[in-house]
Amino acid sequence: MEQTPAMDQASSLRTSPPRSQHSPGRKAILCVAVASGKGGVGKTFLTVNLATTLARQNRRVLLVDADLGLPNADIILGAAPELTLEDCLFHGVDLADVVAKTPFGIDLLAANSGAREMVALGEARLALLAEDLIRFAGNYDVLLFDCASGIDASVTAFLAAAPQSIIVVQPDPTSLMDAYALIKVIRHEDMSSGISLVMNGIRDQAGGKRILAQLQSVVRDYLQLELDCIGLVPHSERAIAAMHARSPLVAFDGSDPAAVEISAVARRIIQKQRAATASGKLNAQHLLQGILAGRSK
Ligand SMILES: Nc1ncnc2c1ncn2[C@@H]1O[C@H](COP(=O)(O)OP(=O)(O)OP(=O)(O)O)[C@@H](O)[C@H]1O
Ligand SMILES: [Mg+2]
Repeated sequence: MEQTPAMDQASSLRTSPPRSQHSPGRKAILCVAVASGKGGVGKTFLTVNLATTLARQNRRVLLVDADLGLPNADIILGAAPELTLEDCLFHGVDLADVVAKTPFGIDLLAANSGAREMVALGEARLALLAEDLIRFAGNYDVLLFDCASGIDASVTAFLAAAPQSIIVVQPDPTSLMDAYALIKVIRHEDMSSGISLVMNGIRDQAGGKRILAQLQSVVRDYLQLELDCIGLVPHSERAIAAMHARSPLVAFDGSDPAAVEISAVARRIIQKQRAATASGKLNAQHLLQGILAGRSK
């Protein structure tokens, strides 16, 4: 096959193949989707910092950028994937070649592709892609999905695919309303197991806790759902400095209170995975729906 410049770029980003192949008895992949109702609440910030924290603990991390439309993980990680899953499907590129290596030890996969062309491929080819993806995910210890904001089908399918999901919410009225709308969809589609909240951008801890308690109480009363909060991440000026330095905050300043709290969130998702039962498996069918439902941008 002829090499395109994009493929050359991908090759130069690739330093080595993932270290081990999936083998029977190997421990389960920690798989978490990060979503929000409202945009701009810190999904990418949280995902990238969780990914960096876990990679620094010698876990092999694949960050799936499920929202190609807006500046995302690639900006912070300083390595834009030139190729996407579309290149696997239409140009015969291997998944391993689509994944970009980033300076922080995280592999990055651009997943959300042109939906219409992919639908035209037919189910058999798509099922093969899902199988490839799941097999490929077996090379990693951690799989994180940075979802688009909102409640469309691509988001809910990624949430359904991942055994654990985090809804990021900020302590402001529109973020809370939009988070509630997303939680309602999740509840109605019966995908509410494994969902946790993270409140981000808190300027006043007491106020943040009060607003969180209100959200939890409305969700309990109207949706009969008990949602854990696994992080109260403060607003941080250092986060802004880190972004300008194109570095995840945890690498830029690990002692910053927001970085410390995100490291605690990483510990909590590991604990939740350990506590989870057999259901903790990546769901290939939902994953595929997530990719298919991705908006063509
Ligand atoms: N705790 C925080 N303190 C300070 N700045 C933050 C914090 N969390 C996020 N930010 C900043 O807020 C902006 C939006 O964050 P981010 O891009 O992660 O949101 P998002 O939910 O992924 O947005 P989108 O919906 O567009 O994908 C970024 O500039 C990010 O650096
Ligand atoms: Mg984002």
